[in-house]
Amino acid sequence: MTRPSNVPAIAILPIRLFFGATFLYAGVDKLLDPSFFDPSAPTSIQAQLLAFARFSPLADLIRASLPLAGWIGLAIAIAEIGIGIGALTGLAFRIAAVGGATLSLLFFLTASWTTHPYYVGADLPYAVGWLALAIAGHGDLWIPAAVRQLEWGGASGAIGGFGADPPGGLSGRQRRRRLAAKQASRGRAAVPLGQGTTAVIAQGATARRTTAASDDEPPSPERRALLQTGLLALIAAVLATLALPLRAIGIFTEPRTGGGTAPLPGSSPGPTASAAANASVAPGPTGSTAGGSVVARLADVAQGGGAAAFTVPFDAPAPLPAGDPGIVVQLADGSFVAYDAVCTHAGCTVEWDQPDVALVCPCHGAAFDPARGAAVLQGPARRPLASIPIVVDQAAGTISLGT
Ligand code: FES
Repeated sequence: MTRPSNVPAIAILPIRLFFGATFLYAGVDKLLDPSFFDPSAPTSIQAQLLAFARFSPLADLIRASLPLAGWIGLAIAIAEIGIGIGALTGLAFRIAAVGGATLSLLFFLTASWTTHPYYVGADLPYAVGWLALAIAGHGDLWIPAAVRQLEWGGASGAIGGFGADPPGGLSGRQRRRRLAAKQASRGRAAVPLGQGTTAVIAQGATARRTTAASDDEPPSPERRALLQTGLLALIAAVLATLALPLRAIGIFTEPRTGGGTAPLPGSSPGPTASAAANASVAPGPTGSTAGGSVVARLADVAQGGGAAAFTVPFDAPAPLPAGDPGIVVQLADGSFVAYDAVCTHAGCTVEWDQPDVALVCPCHGAAFDPARGAAVLQGPARRPLASIPIVVDQAAGTISLGT
């Protein structure tokens, strides 16, 4: 039996609703984001894992999981949806809260690991908040009737989970059964024989009486938790399926090569790259002297409003940031520059902001000036983005890695 807490359930309601809505939104948003599952996109789960592998204490684990990046992204999205629904409805509440704490801790060890000072990142506070919710329970507040039914025999009004009386108290039949059980227990020992059946054996007596439980016998707390967790997972999976648009068909396809995109780590450059390596090259603004893998086409930059994202090939020679997301920008004078798109603040991937003519980080708002060596226009980043040498072949319409 869970002991009632002195904490009023209303006290945890704001954080519960905020966390629940945020996780639900984050999960659905991932599924609806066209770039999240596109390996060639700088904001894809693949690109994010590659960036995390550069500094996370879980780097080895992340690298080993790279071939499953698409599935990992999908699992994270479904888990977030399930956790959000659990927090909002109270369904498998504590399990959802523990899941939220675990996921947030994982994000802290990857996405937010280099955030300094540590309290600037959101993931650690989320992990602690979820932990508090897991300890407190939902307090039987704002629970739909269907969930209350599933918690039959669960906590009543108290900040707690399973094991107490149902909301509204016991029914007359339940009270009679409990009373009978109490009377029977005086001088007798109750021995459970299995699900739905209890044999009451009189101590020192010759009579033996067995009562079969009726259908309204409450399931054990473990069964209730299992039932609720399964239901929650089912709801999350159904919602995820509904959220996935038809383009999901392409979720797990191989990354494209050439055509303005770069291969995933370990894959060989596409045919366009081979051709470009033999083409006559014109030195780029970064002083490159030799052509390498094609990372973008001039047409891609024009289509992208003055910039194109790419991934630095994994086999790129040092000191090139192999595996990193990169971005090439055409400046006002017509020249091209390329930078490592990993934000120097905490490792998020910067994006091209055409109206502001800047590279902007979506995580904490840092901005960099591509025309001045990616100098910091706005913090919290303190260092400019790393420059990537490129070779522009105007005749072939390609941009390749330089040396
Ligand atoms: Fe914080 Fe980029 S990661 S501003």
